[in-house]
Amino acid sequence: SERHFERYFEDVIARDQRIEPRDWLPEAYRKTMIRQIAQHAHSEIIGMQPEGNWITRAPSLRRKAILLAKVQDEAGHGLYLYSAAETLGGDRDDLTEKLISGRQKYSSIFNYPTLSFADVGVIGWLVDGAAICNQVPLCRSSYGPYARAMIRICKEESFHQRQGYELLMTMMTGTEAQREMVQDAVNRYWWPSLMMFGPPDDDSPNTAQSMAWKIKRHTNDELRQRFVDMTVPQAEALGVTLPDPDLSWNADRGHYDFGAIDWDELKQVISGGGPCNTERVERRRAAHEDGAWVREAAAAHARKQQQRKEV
Ligand code: ACO
Repeated sequence: SERHFERYFEDVIARDQRIEPRDWLPEAYRKTMIRQIAQHAHSEIIGMQPEGNWITRAPSLRRKAILLAKVQDEAGHGLYLYSAAETLGGDRDDLTEKLISGRQKYSSIFNYPTLSFADVGVIGWLVDGAAICNQVPLCRSSYGPYARAMIRICKEESFHQRQGYELLMTMMTGTEAQREMVQDAVNRYWWPSLMMFGPPDDDSPNTAQSMAWKIKRHTNDELRQRFVDMTVPQAEALGVTLPDPDLSWNADRGHYDFGAIDWDELKQVISGGGPCNTERVERRRAAHEDGAWVREAAAAHARKQQQRKEV
């Protein structure tokens, strides 16, 4: 009976085991899991654009090879995640349609422009650093296919983070103009990176239920604080200033205090009004439409193979 299945589901969660695709699960769990996985997949795919912008203009063959590898990794992450959503009955075509018609979200961070090559380094350091902070606990998320995808994704994100930091260290030991480029990129990306963790806990409609289901292991504010604590010493080592006059060590809390985040800006970016939202979605739509013939050809080929088998 339904009640029996429900008890089994609750038991799996209570024992910290994983929910697997063939297990019974509450419809609301399925819905929120598809939502989070799809938003995550869309973020990886849209996230290829801001950095892809610099592939043809990378300053050396080495930097170009690194950046190409990184952007390809993001395509891979998007694909594992769409596959994870499919195990819950999410349909890839439908999810893509929802992305390009603005009915599903992707991370706010990818709606900011990449104005100089230093942005590639800062995205690696701060954006991928924030992504790791958020995603390492998701390796213990209650939905098996998502948790397992996250293990490989986190390993690759760690490489992305290190390449960003290494790029910035190189620029910081370069010319004055290079140091200024790095500082300018940090000034533009610091606050949007903090917004990646989502709205504050008291304004986060999904957190309580997702924590109860162990989809999320920490709240948005907990992870944001962890990221700030981790990043301040890295900024010092690098020799850049984080653009927040209120940032200071609080010995009583054992954490860094930081200034107020502009939540109106996050709301605006999430609802389509960020600096690059239109451009990002249009680009994705064009790529999807340009690829229609590939999907048609693949489907025709599959039909032909199937017919041959039947003969
Ligand atoms: N950008 C865009 N949308 C966001 C952001 C953000 N920075 N933060 C929150 N939202 C959305 C939520 O997805 C939710 O959407 P809904 O209206 O469809 O329900 C809504 O705003 C309210 O937020 P929350 O209740 O806090 O939502 P949730 O519990 O899902 O927490 C979070 C948001 C932390 C982003 C969570 O979904 C998560 O951990 N996702 C997986 C990680 C991820 O997607 N990373 C992508 C960027 S990193 C990268 O790709 C390099």
